[in-house]
Amino acid sequence: MTSVAIIGPGAIGGTLAAWLAQDPALSITLCARTPFSGLHVETPDGTLTASPLVLTDPADAVAMDWVLVCTKTYDVEATKVWLDRLVGPHTRVAIVQNGVEHVKLFAHLVPAERIVPVMINLPAARSAPGRIVQHRDGFMSVPAGRNGEDFVALFANTKVAATADADFVSQIWIKLTGNCGTIVPALTLRATGPVWSEELEAIMRGLLEECATVGRAEGAQVPASVIDDAIERFRNAPEGSSAGSIHADRLAGHQMEIDARNGVIVRLGKQHGIPTPMNALLVTLLGASGSPWVTA
Ligand SMILES: NC(=O)c1ccc[n+]([C@@H]2O[C@H](COP(=O)([O-])OP(=O)(O)OC[C@H]3O[C@@H](n4cnc5c(N)ncnc54)[C@H](OP(=O)(O)O)[C@@H]3O)[C@@H](O)[C@H]2O)c1
Repeated sequence: MTSVAIIGPGAIGGTLAAWLAQDPALSITLCARTPFSGLHVETPDGTLTASPLVLTDPADAVAMDWVLVCTKTYDVEATKVWLDRLVGPHTRVAIVQNGVEHVKLFAHLVPAERIVPVMINLPAARSAPGRIVQHRDGFMSVPAGRNGEDFVALFANTKVAATADADFVSQIWIKLTGNCGTIVPALTLRATGPVWSEELEAIMRGLLEECATVGRAEGAQVPASVIDDAIERFRNAPEGSSAGSIHADRLAGHQMEIDARNGVIVRLGKQHGIPTPMNALLVTLLGASGSPWVTA
C-alpha cells in the first residue's frame, strides 16, 4: 500500500484526493486547516465520493511515501508543521501549485532532490469544505526523471492525465503566460464583456508578452500562439464569466497569488535585465488597492 498525504484539500487537493482515493492500492490522508468529513467531487466523469482520514493536528501525522502540497502559494510557510511530520527519509513531495517557483519556495523545507514540481491544468472550485466541482478534464506535467515518472504512476488509475516532460520549464511558463493577464480583472473587477476595448487588449497583450520574454530568458519555449489564444479567450469571454482565481480571491476578500503570478515576472525580469513595466504597474496598483496581499 502506498501512503499519500494531501496538505490543503481545497479545490485542487480535494479533487486529486478524490481521484486517488478510488485506487485501492493507495491510502489517502488529508491534512486540513478546516475540519470536514468526506469528499464529494463532481467531475466530468461523474460524482466521486471518498472518506479518507482527515487530520487537523500535525501531531497526528506520520511519515508518508508521497506528500502532495496543494495550498495556495502564500501558505507555503504554514505547511512546515505538516511537512516536519510527514516527510521521512524516502518521502517525495509534489508541489501542486501555480507559478514557476515550486522548488525555490520549498527549498528550505524539503531536500530539493525530493521535490516534484507539478504544473496542473484542472479547473475546479470549492463550494464548501470537501464539496468541489471539477469543471473539465485535468492534466498535469512534471519533470522527466525517476521522481516525475513515479508521480505519473501514482495517477495511473485516475482520469487525471499526468506526463513526465523533458521540457518542464516550458510547461510552467506557457501556463503562466496564459494566466498572468488575470491580474487585470482582479484590479478592475470588471474586464470582460462590453468593457473590453483595444486599449485594454493592448495592456493585456503587454503583460503576456513580458511574461513570455522572461520565460524565454529562463530557458522556456513559449510560442506566440499562447499569447494570441489567451487574448482571444478574454476578448470573447461574456460579461460576468469567471475571470480567474485572483479575481475570485479579491472578491472574497482573500489573499491573492499576485507575487507567484505577476510579481515573479518583475523579479526575474530584473535579474535578466528585461523591462516589465506592465506587470510592475499592475502589481503595484493591486498591492495599493488595500486588498489583502502578501509577497509570497
Ligand atoms: N482551483 C483551480 O481551478 C486551480 C487550477 C490550477 C491551479 N490551481 C492552483 O492550485 C493551488 C491550490 O489552489 P486551490 O484552488 O485548490 O486553492 P483552495 O481551494 O483555496 O485550497 C487551498 C487549501 O489549502 C488549505 N490550507 C491553507 N493553509 C493550510 C494549512 N496550514 N494546513 C492545511 N491546509 C491548509 C485551505 O484550507 P481551508 O479549507 O481552511 O481554506 C484550502 O483547503 C494554487 O496555487 C492555485 O493557483 C488552482
